[in-house]
Amino acid sequence: RIAYVNGRYLDLREASVNIEDRGYQFSDGIYEVCEIRDGALVDWPRHRARLKRSLGEVRIAMPMGEAALTAVLHEVMRRNRVHYGLIYLQVTRGVAHREHSFPSPSVKPSLVVTAKNLSFAKNEAQAAHGIAVITLPENRWPRVDIKSVALLPNVLAKQQAKEQGAYEAWFVDRDGFVTEGSSSNAWIVTKSGTIVTRSADSGILPGITRAVLQEVLAALQMRFEERPFTPQEAEEAAEAFVTAATQIVMPVVKIDGKPIGNGVPGPIAAKLRSHFHGFST
Ligand code: PDD
Repeated sequence: RIAYVNGRYLDLREASVNIEDRGYQFSDGIYEVCEIRDGALVDWPRHRARLKRSLGEVRIAMPMGEAALTAVLHEVMRRNRVHYGLIYLQVTRGVAHREHSFPSPSVKPSLVVTAKNLSFAKNEAQAAHGIAVITLPENRWPRVDIKSVALLPNVLAKQQAKEQGAYEAWFVDRDGFVTEGSSSNAWIVTKSGTIVTRSADSGILPGITRAVLQEVLAALQMRFEERPFTPQEAEEAAEAFVTAATQIVMPVVKIDGKPIGNGVPGPIAAKLRSHFHGFST
């Protein structure tokens, strides 16, 4: 596998960054994950816009212009021969002797890009079975709208889910409402057929998959409500699912060990999953 590291394409085994990279020392960086399908990037313009916004919020410069960045992504994809999979890119504040405040004079941000093949069949099989989720108290910082590489709470939550035989953990805020998953947005379908997800203005990362799915819902004229929901409501829902790049619409069939609906993936999640790529760009 080939990685792009600060201007060079290197074999993954030789690709490395400086130990004084601020991403390594402070998690002082931003990332994006984009799906690759049929050899093309899915919704890259939106991911690029979110990257720009996240970087702006933490005052890191874009590492290069938009066209150049897009070209790097395509080159990494090409060199790794990825037809179906994902691209990962990470921008950090750069390399400097360790001091919490920004390097002065400022240094060049670091850019790393990798791509990998995923199994399409495996992903489809997972969607056919559905996944289990657990709930955990929200313990992340309030700025989860920034796609920061500081993911320790997410890592611990995902590991706990795994150890309990689940695939994802849903964070629950102090008011008892689900915020989102450790690496996905959370949705339910009520018994009356309304699709519900929390609004993007607080407590969640504004997912690109989430945004595109809203367009799918509008086009299909499906009932949609943007509001928070509780784990109890999810337990009593007809269906639930999560959204994220590469997972697209992944049915949730169990929450904290209890089945949702009939305990099998529902028709609405399946319908949304099948329509999604007709609306992505
Ligand atoms: N995660 N919420 C969180 C906390 C996430 O980490 C992600 C994505 C999402 C969904 O966003 P999008 O639809 O834009 O992928 C929501 C990526 C895939 C990851 O960390 O690997």
